[in-house]
Amino acid sequence: MSGIKTITELQELFSSQLAEYSFPQVPSALYEPMEYIMSIGGKRIRPVLLLAAYNLYKEEVAVAFEGGLALEVFHNFTLLHDDIMDAAEIRRGQPTVHIKYDENKAILTGDVMMIYAYQLLEKYSDYYLPLCKVFTQTSREVCEGQSMDMEFETTDSVTISDYLKMIEYKTSVLIAAALKMGGILAGAPEQDLKHLYEFGKNLGIAFQIQDDLLDTFGTEEQLGKKIGGDIEQKKKTYLYLKSLELLNESQANRLRSIFLDQNLDMDDALVAEVKELLQISHVKVHAEELKLVYQQLSLSHLSAIQVPDEQKIPLQELAHSLLNRTV
Ligand code: IPE
Ligand code: IPE
Ligand code: MG
Ligand code: MG
Ligand code: MG
Repeated sequence: MSGIKTITELQELFSSQLAEYSFPQVPSALYEPMEYIMSIGGKRIRPVLLLAAYNLYKEEVAVAFEGGLALEVFHNFTLLHDDIMDAAEIRRGQPTVHIKYDENKAILTGDVMMIYAYQLLEKYSDYYLPLCKVFTQTSREVCEGQSMDMEFETTDSVTISDYLKMIEYKTSVLIAAALKMGGILAGAPEQDLKHLYEFGKNLGIAFQIQDDLLDTFGTEEQLGKKIGGDIEQKKKTYLYLKSLELLNESQANRLRSIFLDQNLDMDDALVAEVKELLQISHVKVHAEELKLVYQQLSLSHLSAIQVPDEQKIPLQELAHSLLNRTV
């Protein structure tokens, strides 16, 4: 099939359709924060993945815009609530919604965005039920993952396998759903839908490991989020969990005690000390290796999809760029 678009073309197409799109305006207290979060950027990877999956089978990708928008609106809803839960004040280099407006607005605007995302799918009457089924299951899992993430802050028995389950749910299932929904909209065969989903799931796990790496070792300038936020919130990321295995006994005890002492206030000096311990442990190398394992697993599912290999190049490239990203 000709008409395979590059990732840049898909990004541009989505952006230009989004620029033309009008969100509701009234009441402004509800919709202004939505307009704000949707307008301050973001990589738009979920809609682009949906469009790229659709484009494996069909050329007229513009039709799939509302499907992509549903994912982006849903993703941004999760960010509104996540930033309250993580006490984050900066996102995409700008004040978070609960800081710029207030917490109540961030909660209710988040709620309406989640509902709006469902409404956007109504356009696809032929595929409405299968689309909604994936979306509903995914939404529940995102909440479950987010719940685990929060519970882990104050639990001392979290294992690496618990962490992997948590990131699969909070992040990777939505990326998996994006690919599967693109396939559903294009009428892809059942077997391909499974591989699209697994491609996204493993890619999403690698993507969240990269997000965790950047949260500690990235720069605020590039990432648009505060560096060290996960340490401040005592998140039980792979970096923390694996460091406990890699450090010597006294170092590991120190790291553990910083994270487990509920009365200890995480000031800048403590965050710097934790970062130093993570650096000494060389956990970064291990995290990069783990990322690679999931990246390879994801690519094996992309290979198994029954379309000519050259059509998969945009998705392959996107997978590589996401895992080497600094933003
Ligand atoms: C941030 O997602 C939340 C995670 C799941 C790690 P993105 O890194 O896709 O954020 P934006 O949309 O590009 O800002
Ligand atoms: C985000 O995880 C997961 C969801 C929004 C569901 P993070 O808390 O790591 O995302 P960032 O780092 O704030 O973007
Ligand atoms: Mg979070
Ligand atoms: Mg967060
Ligand atoms: Mg993060």
